[in-house]
This record gives sequence, C-alpha cells and structure tokens, in this order.
Amino acid sequence: MKLLLLGKTGQVGWELQRSLAPLGELVALDARSTEFPADFRHPERVAQTVLALQPDVIVNAAAHTAVDKAESEPELARTLNATTPGAIAQAARQIGALMVHYSTDYVFDGGGERPWQEDDATGPLSVYGRTKLEGEQLIVAQGPKHLIFRTSWVYAARGGNFAKTMLRLARERDRLTVIDDQFGAPTGAELLADVTAHAIRDTLRDPAKAGLYHLAAGGETTWHGYARFVLEQAEAAGVALKAGPAMVDPVPTRAFPTPAARPHNSRLNTLKLRSAFGLSLPSWQTGVARMLHETL
Ligand SMILES: NC(=O)c1ccc[n+]([C@@H]2O[C@H](COP(=O)([O-])OP(=O)(O)OC[C@H]3O[C@@H](n4cnc5c(N)ncnc54)[C@H](OP(=O)(O)O)[C@@H]3O)[C@@H](O)[C@H]2O)c1
Repeated sequence: MKLLLLGKTGQVGWELQRSLAPLGELVALDARSTEFPADFRHPERVAQTVLALQPDVIVNAAAHTAVDKAESEPELARTLNATTPGAIAQAARQIGALMVHYSTDYVFDGGGERPWQEDDATGPLSVYGRTKLEGEQLIVAQGPKHLIFRTSWVYAARGGNFAKTMLRLARERDRLTVIDDQFGAPTGAELLADVTAHAIRDTLRDPAKAGLYHLAAGGETTWHGYARFVLEQAEAAGVALKAGPAMVDPVPTRAFPTPAARPHNSRLNTLKLRSAFGLSLPSWQTGVARMLHETL
C-alpha cells in the first residue's frame, strides 16, 4: 500500500510520519518539496502530485492554522484550507484513493455547553473557521472516500505550545492570568496520528466507516484549568516556579482581545468515532502529563 502525507512538518504531520510508516510505503511532502510539489498555494500542482504518485491513501495535515493572521489574509487561508483540499479530493476520487483530512471545533459558533455532535449546525466565527468548514464541504462534494477528523486545542512535544509558554511565564512572573470561559480538550498530535492510522486500516477494510468524525482527548477543561494542571505537574517534578498553580488568575476571553473570535464551547462529542472504530480516547491529562515528562 502507498500513502501520501501532505504537510509532514506540522505538529500532526510530524507524528503522522511515525504512525503511518508501518502501514506501507510512505511518501511525505511539505511546501518545500521539489520533485513532487506540495505547496498548497498552488492547488493544481498539489493535485498533479496526487495523480503522479497514485497513492492508495492521502493524508492532509497541511493547513493555514494561524487563526488571527487568517483574518487579514482570508484569500490565502481559503486557498490553503479549502481550495487545495478540494483539488486533492477531486484527484483522490479520480484515482480511487482514501482521503484523510483534519478540521476543527472552530466550525461551530461556540454556543451552549453541550459537546458538539458531527451533525450539529455549524456557524464559524472566524476566517479560519469558515475556510476550514468550506474545506470539509468541498471534500464531501468531490466525493472521494474520506475521513475528516474535527479536533481541538492541538499540542505537540515538538516546537512551541501553550504548556511550554505557561512554564516559561511561571518562571518569569509572580502571577499569570489565563482565560477561563473557553471549554475544550487539549489533544495531542500523537493521539491524532495514532487514531488516524487505526482508522485508515479499518476504513480500507470496511469503506462504510468513511465519513466525518469528532476526535479529541477525553474530558474537558478551560485554558485556566490547563495552565494550572501544567504548573501542578511542573511543581511535582521539582521545577522551580515563581508562580505556582495557585497564582494563576482566571479572566474572561474579553480580557485578551484578538483579531479572530474564539468559540466559548469547543467541547466535541466523540461517541461516533469511539463506536465506529472500537477505540477509547485517553483523558487530556494523560497526554499533557506525558508531553510534560518529555519536556521538563
Ligand atoms: N493546532 C490546533 O490547535 C488545531 C485545532 C483544531 C484543528 N486543527 C487542524 O489540525 C490539522 C493539523 O494542524 P497542526 O496543529 O499540525 O498545524 P501546524 O503545526 O500549524 O501545521 C500546519 C502545516 O501546514 C503547513 N503549511 C502552511 N502553509 C503551507 C503551504 N503553503 N503549503 C503546504 N503546507 C503548508 C505548515 O508548514 P510550515 O510549518 O512549513 O509553514 C505546517 O507543516 C490542520 O488541519 C488544522 O486545521 C488544528
């Protein structure tokens, strides 16, 4: 089996290089690839790469993920998040490949407190959310066999992340202020990559499992709860902090104005995924604690 991974250097792309490798021959590309172009600013070139390589499975981990920046460059965000995934989907259908793609809780308006189900009405609040939703819709409209995973609050051990920022600030400052009115589940790129590999195998055996799924770690928290957990873990590991967990002050979202509005309710109901693939999703604390052990 041949797999094509697009966006190999992102948080999720990096972990997919590991988790997809045992499934077959893996060709992993990014925007800088030259032999087979995979710069998402050029939809037709990426589609041509798919047609030239003829993979059985295409996994797209590339996206315009700079949520605030997207507000000032909506056309670029649309090309990366919607037009190019649509072009890949068209090529995937032509060659009969399974297309795997990631989307986001930002397709919802963040109202209420109930975890979102796959068929709930969408209502994105930002350019990022709108373009990610359009990407989903274009893939479905092109009609390839597909898996679309909506996820939330993604972090990875590699590169910068929220937890590392909190640790740095807690070493430098006496108090921190962190938002406590956005609810979601921090989800590790490792978990996303591992579940993706399981789901690909299952879907190739049983194409009826193709479709749209919510995929996030178990449980829920706020950014404030997340920050406190990180500092508790750091203290337990003997890290010297100026601001301990009790020194994290909760503030509402409006205390930190940003160009893009964020949903208050980013909870995702993952029952459909767990039932379809017979998987359990570990608590968000499990993944964050593991990432911290690798980092501290
Ligand atoms: N991060 C989150 O909190 C979050 C939440 C919900 C859903 N998601 C979704 O999960 C997926 C993976 O996100 P992630 O967290 O792994 O994001 P990420 O770390 O920002 O990775 C995005 C990747 O896209 C690549 N990219 C940017 N411009 C490109 C271009 N013109 N051509 C080709 N590649 C380009 C980036 O490459 P360079 O680094 O070289 O620019 C990067 O490797 C995305 O679909 C995202 O929308 C993410």
